[in-house]
Amino acid sequence: MADRCLLALETTCDETAAAVVTEDLQVLGSVVASQDALHERFSGVVPEIAARAHLERLLPVLDETLRRAGVGWDQIAVIAVATQPGLAGSLLVGLMAAKTLSFLLGKPLVAVNHLQAHIYACRIAAGRDVFPCIGLVVSGGHTSLYRCENPLDFHWLGGTIDDAAGEAFDKVATMLGLPYPGGPALARAAEGGRPGRFRFPRPLLAEEERLDFSFSGLKTAVRYAVAGPGRVDFASLQLDPQLVADVAAEFQEAVVDCLVGKSMLALRITGLRRLCVGGGVAANQRLRTRLGQACAESHCELLIAPPQLCTDNAVMGAIAWERYRAGLFEPLDVDIQPGLMRPAGSTR
Ligand code: KG4
Ligand code: ZN
Repeated sequence: MADRCLLALETTCDETAAAVVTEDLQVLGSVVASQDALHERFSGVVPEIAARAHLERLLPVLDETLRRAGVGWDQIAVIAVATQPGLAGSLLVGLMAAKTLSFLLGKPLVAVNHLQAHIYACRIAAGRDVFPCIGLVVSGGHTSLYRCENPLDFHWLGGTIDDAAGEAFDKVATMLGLPYPGGPALARAAEGGRPGRFRFPRPLLAEEERLDFSFSGLKTAVRYAVAGPGRVDFASLQLDPQLVADVAAEFQEAVVDCLVGKSMLALRITGLRRLCVGGGVAANQRLRTRLGQACAESHCELLIAPPQLCTDNAVMGAIAWERYRAGLFEPLDVDIQPGLMRPAGSTR
């Protein structure tokens, strides 16, 4: 049994997760406790509920992770925890637990940037070095492009100026009366959609100098397509299922066009030839297919982690091994950084 194991905690948003990963990136155990059922009736994550749920779930999740991994506390050499970005209350629960474990076990504490970890999921899944690369993080809270020199050096190239792609998926799903969480439900609805009935905007896509995204206008276009102007109670709308499918398909296509277009632009501008994609929306099959086609045409390499490593998990926190090897440990008074969305230059 492996004796140098890293224990990673992930509580940035609404998944309570832990994982045990060896230094050669073998995943010995991983548990993700979803809070979807708690947030469903609000059609979005309620920060206070999320933080309380993390408090209740973290210890059972930790126990179960170690049980599955078949390791004891004495085999844990490093404690890793996501400290940025995320919901303040949620981050605090994970960080306090990680500090306590670090102190009790006398093992180093390593902070994880959740967005960098999403990209690192591609490294873990690939089983080999993937740097340098362009990194696209496309999740519920973030849509950003990075130039990733190495696992410790990420440069922000651009990102959304309003909604994140996943947030737009979730909000449009609510307008269409689809179940929570909206992203997967909308993708399923889009399967029956007919192309050509609607044409939504592709904001900023034509701006060849800019690596930014904008999805809020797209959301408004959907709103007008299904309900017109004026006040609307989306919950009481009785929408024709074919209309829902057609709108979902065109919305998804518009988001995918923007994500693919800007990712390819980032590759062209930087001259890099490898794209790594992470975050919950990277689980979207249409996005995976279209990125695959675009990268093949451009003779670039595409790496996307399997869907369960795209949505929030603690396995990706194994990026902490890189910081550990570089001696980048945290003191016990390290704090959370909830809002660090646009790291300028190196985030090291
Ligand atoms: O990375 P993640 O699990 O949490 C954040 O860090 O935000 O991403 C969650 C987001 C949600 O907005 C969810 O609707 C979206 O990822 N998502 C999807 C799919 N699966 C999850 N969006 C589109 N298609 C999917 N298959
Ligand atoms: Zn995430």
